[in-house]
Amino acid sequence: MEHNKEFLNLILDRRSCRAYRPDPLDRPTLAAIVEAGRYAPSAMSRQLNHFFVITDPELLAGISATVSRRLEGFDGRDCRYGAPALVLVANAKSNRSAIQDASCAMENMMLAASAMGVGSCWINQPYHLTDDPELRALLAPIGLTDEERICASLSLGWPADPVHPGRREHKGNPVSWIG
Ligand SMILES: Cc1cc2nc3c(=O)[nH]c(=O)nc-3n(C[C@H](O)[C@H](O)[C@H](O)COP(=O)(O)O)c2cc1C
Repeated sequence: MEHNKEFLNLILDRRSCRAYRPDPLDRPTLAAIVEAGRYAPSAMSRQLNHFFVITDPELLAGISATVSRRLEGFDGRDCRYGAPALVLVANAKSNRSAIQDASCAMENMMLAASAMGVGSCWINQPYHLTDDPELRALLAPIGLTDEERICASLSLGWPADPVHPGRREHKGNPVSWIG
């Protein structure tokens, strides 16, 4: 089926984007990407992902600055590559499948972004700093609760270069066929 083939090609052609144009993403585009994340499967369909869609330049700069200050090796580096939007995916600390649930949402969002010509990249540093008091202090006012942990984050923006620069062959991820 042609339709499905297109989708399979989209999966194989998706790439991470680390250079963004400074112009903001419009709200409907961002909303469509996040909606794809909301519709990801979750263990027992508990739907405990909490999406923080951050476009406020001051907060974005604050997150990057906090990562630079608090995470070894990030001194002077912007973990989000200057992207004009960052989606933090938090989930309940009590949820044993929090990381899996968040990861499903992340992949859905990356594929949705790719389909819409939007650049995206998984940004892991906020996850590493989920217990960091400085990052928590920054995110508590926007609604991150003590019962939630940051599981993943995604930078989003219009790509500076083509969003599909070419399929890269995957040589890892071996497959064992049994039977
Ligand atoms: C769990 C996970 C964490 C990642 N963390 C980062 C990150 O912190 N910074 C970054 O630039 N890329 C990050 N990436 C993106 C990978 O580096 C990227 O997917 C990989 O190099 C393959 O390239 P591709 O996405 O273009 O196919 C992460 C990807 C995953 C799945």
